[in-house]
Amino acid sequence: MLKDYIEANQKVFQEELSNLLSDVDIPDQLKKSMLYSLEAGGKRLRPILLLASYEAYASDVKRIYRTALALEMIHTYSLIHDDLPAMDDDEYRRGSLTNHKVFGEATAILAGDALLTYSFELITNDPLLSDPEKVYLVKLLSRASGPSGMVAGQILDMEAEDQTINIERLEKIHALKTGELLKFAVTAGAYLGNATEEQIFHLQDFAHYLGLIFQVQDDILDVTGDEKKLGKAVGSDEINNKSTYPKLLGLEGAIEMKNRYAEKAKELLRKANADTSRLSDLTLYISERDF
Ligand code: IPE
Ligand code: IPE
Ligand code: MG
Ligand code: MG
Ligand code: MG
Repeated sequence: MLKDYIEANQKVFQEELSNLLSDVDIPDQLKKSMLYSLEAGGKRLRPILLLASYEAYASDVKRIYRTALALEMIHTYSLIHDDLPAMDDDEYRRGSLTNHKVFGEATAILAGDALLTYSFELITNDPLLSDPEKVYLVKLLSRASGPSGMVAGQILDMEAEDQTINIERLEKIHALKTGELLKFAVTAGAYLGNATEEQIFHLQDFAHYLGLIFQVQDDILDVTGDEKKLGKAVGSDEINNKSTYPKLLGLEGAIEMKNRYAEKAKELLRKANADTSRLSDLTLYISERDF
């Protein structure tokens, strides 16, 4: 069952994340701040997605762990910075105070920097990957998280505050700020599982829609969600006058759009031609989640 799969793997990744830094020489406050956000919880959907994509083609799961953890580190860094007063200015994340509320802004910024850079060290030191695999993954992950990927999405999101933008623009922002890291998860999993180029190509198309679904639901939950369940405040988008799907299309319109993306995602997944039932279940889960 999907629920058991998610819970079991959340536990695996949680443990791996906690152990990861234990022997690394990092100044005390910096390590505390990095671990604070890493261990706070979170759904671990990106590592789970990477795993599910890998398992559509192969079964030696240990081979993807470090790459999956590196991705979760980058995601966690992006959240620490996203919550800063200069950005979304949020007080709660993953059910706890945001990093800067506990450690101060300067340390939170540095913890983000440290998680970002350490993620690449992690991949390049992975004893289970070949050098060509490492180069491929580092190239893909730096592209997905960098100035033409997630960071691009974050600045476009910021620039779209207090603006009325069209749906194409909003799709672009969502695809970059959220979709790129999800696309990395799906691509890296399939690549390490030795999927063919054609299969990877179709999966990337699928992941594009998955990214949109994910962020539309995030926008919807910012309006309708339960703060306790979400572990973060609702209404943050409204306060910051963000461009979101509910703002542009209304709640009903946003849900309709999400369902349309979900249909597209399903169709593209069929084309990837592998055992993708888990990815298909995860898509539904991501679309209907209430946290
Ligand atoms: C939140 O991501 C930020 C977005 C990209 C929308 P998640 O909803 O996956 O956050 P965690 O990892 O579960 O805390
Ligand atoms: C954040 O989007 C996306 C990234 C951190 C890259 P949001 O600003 O909507 O995420 P939440 O709602 O704070 O989790
Ligand atoms: Mg934001
Ligand atoms: Mg935010
Ligand atoms: Mg949000």
